[in-house]
Amino acid sequence: MNSTDRYAVFGSPINHSKSPRIHRLFAEQTSQDLNYVAQEVTAEIFVSAVSEFFAQGGKGLNCTVPLKELAYQFADKKTDRAESAKAVNTLVLLANGTILGDNTDGVGLVTDLMVNHNVELKNKRVLIVGAGGAARGIIDPLLDQQLDCLVVVNRTADKALQLAIEFNHSFESCGFNELHHQPFDVILNATSASLSNELPPLPENLLAENGVCYDLAYGNEPTAFVRWGELQNASQSLDGLGMLVEQAAEAFALWRGVRPDTKTVIDLLNVERSV
Ligand code: ATR
Repeated sequence: MNSTDRYAVFGSPINHSKSPRIHRLFAEQTSQDLNYVAQEVTAEIFVSAVSEFFAQGGKGLNCTVPLKELAYQFADKKTDRAESAKAVNTLVLLANGTILGDNTDGVGLVTDLMVNHNVELKNKRVLIVGAGGAARGIIDPLLDQQLDCLVVVNRTADKALQLAIEFNHSFESCGFNELHHQPFDVILNATSASLSNELPPLPENLLAENGVCYDLAYGNEPTAFVRWGELQNASQSLDGLGMLVEQAAEAFALWRGVRPDTKTVIDLLNVERSV
């Protein structure tokens, strides 16, 4: 019988996912015997696909768009950070047979910013653009960093307000036409605009001198938001490739009890996408 532990990422669309490559590199690096595949799973078939995966001996899953809220509902038990995000990107089969749901996106972002790019967050003015699932997952990990202030701006202002209410007004919310704030030190794009190569309607003079722009999305070419950041003279205008690798490393550590080195994997993926 094949004893190799099985893992997978579920999502739709999933064919361009870098997760199998990342987890195989982690496995190689840490000498772990595991198999990780990408599987096209829509919301409609999510529950049956996950149940089948675990029934057939699967050990852990990543869930991506559009399945994170469904994965949250599926998990028997949730970590605090998954609870506050109300979204799960990592499912873990526990020894007692129950399924733990975690959300490693926020910690992935904060690690990429602070460790890989030396971006200081303490006492900084931070703006999140977007109020959907991607924004929700990063709010608490950012608030943990003793920011000077956090503002969430969204095209649909009411959605940002609802999010602020849900998070007990621990940040300010507004629409783009209400964004008359002092410039921000860090601007994070958590909208899905990059996926269609669109740019949120960001006003001029939004970024402070030496400010940093970060798009949670990533691509082989710079996203529209990364290009915008460059035009605003950001000291760094980054995309979410590092966050992707860091959230994967957190999931890998949960599953295997060993933390892989992320730098070598990020460097390799950066080389691969530049050729
Ligand atoms: P995700 O889970 O990826 O966050 P989502 O929950 O569908 O996806 O949320 C998408 C976010 O991107 C929303 O904040 C959306 O704004 P609205 O709430 O007003 O729809 C935002 N978004 C998508 N396209 C956008 C665009 N072209 N300009 C500005 N915001 C955009």
